[in-house]
Amino acid sequence: MPRHVVAMVDEIPAGERKLVKVAGREIGIFNVGGEFFAIGNRCPHEGASLCQGRIVGLVESDEPGSYQFSRRGELVRCPWHGWEFDIRTGKSYCDPRRTKVRSFDLTVETGGALVEGELRADTFPVAIEQQYVVIDV
Ligand code: FES
Repeated sequence: MPRHVVAMVDEIPAGERKLVKVAGREIGIFNVGGEFFAIGNRCPHEGASLCQGRIVGLVESDEPGSYQFSRRGELVRCPWHGWEFDIRTGKSYCDPRRTKVRSFDLTVETGGALVEGELRADTFPVAIEQQYVVIDV
């Protein structure tokens, strides 16, 4: 599976996202408290851009007037009709078994790990000062 460098870690602060285009697909890269996740940008309802949605938490209620708030910053709310998706898994909260956006494997790697391959040529010392977000599509 081809790998794609999509961003430097510093480009996407905690709580933010970046829309990238990889192999013809729009993918949202989200930083949730220092962890990175990738989900498809197209909402499965009617196609809105999820990267333009608000990043929210989970509100649950057992009875009227009582609610619990948790998972701050782990869901994205579609900007058109408000469906919410778990940024970690892509699952919808209105219908998690059937409705989800695709999630993609993503890693954070040093520049040194990216340049390592099977074939070797002359090597020269290289200073690595940044980390990159890499997606497998
Ligand atoms: S297009 Fe996303 S909820 Fe309708």
